[in-house]
Amino acid sequence: MLFDSLRKFAIAALGLALFCSSPVPAEDSVSSGAVSSADKTIIVYFSRAGENYKVGIVERGNTELMAEMIAQKTGARTFRIEPVKAYSENYKECTEQANEELQNRSRPEIKKDIELESYTTIFLGYPIWWGDMPMPVYTFLEKHDFAGKTIIPFNTHEGSGQGVTVQRLKETTKADVLDGIAVRGSDVRNNPASTAANINAWLNKLGYK
Ligand SMILES: Cc1cc2nc3c(=O)[nH]c(=O)nc-3n(C[C@H](O)[C@H](O)[C@H](O)COP(=O)(O)O)c2cc1C
Repeated sequence: MLFDSLRKFAIAALGLALFCSSPVPAEDSVSSGAVSSADKTIIVYFSRAGENYKVGIVERGNTELMAEMIAQKTGARTFRIEPVKAYSENYKECTEQANEELQNRSRPEIKKDIELESYTTIFLGYPIWWGDMPMPVYTFLEKHDFAGKTIIPFNTHEGSGQGVTVQRLKETTKADVLDGIAVRGSDVRNNPASTAANINAWLNKLGYK
């Protein structure tokens, strides 16, 4: 089923031909609406601006928008994983780079890191790339010790759901990895109100009231 959705995704991806624009990187932020557990919770995410599948050229990535919805509700701080060498803003080129990195199990260098000691819960956000997480997310994960911590995955995709990522997170970290939530990137962007409502309902179930 995963491979079927990957195949459909790849076929659809080949049909896409758009243009590029300059992405505006988001600043790391501290959200205002603090709740009691916010200072022990952090939202770490990877997201790419530029040309993307189904959404055209965007200044901020879909997963970044999702991360902000989670920050809004939880009051947690956000941290963005950024590779030193940016991916192409051209969608097709980016898929080729990402595929090569996946095959080579690359660990692209990341621009900066954070101290995770004081956080017990890490919301981890990423887009699905070829059924998996982008390789810079692995770079980040392998730099830290997640023993005793909880990872709550959230991701955007265009058909693959969570792909193999929850399994990979369990293999890569010693964290308690929860089931997480997967949302279509185009829904985050085009239906923000209903997406935020779904995310808030999910967060309520997790105890973030
Ligand atoms: C390199 C690359 C590979 C992708 N591979 C998949 C995939 O295997 N399955 C899928 O459903 N979507 C795939 N997508 C679509 C993205 O997961 C989706 O557009 C996501 O919302 C992008 O998030 P972002 O804007 O935060 O980077 C891929 C996109 C890119 C750029």
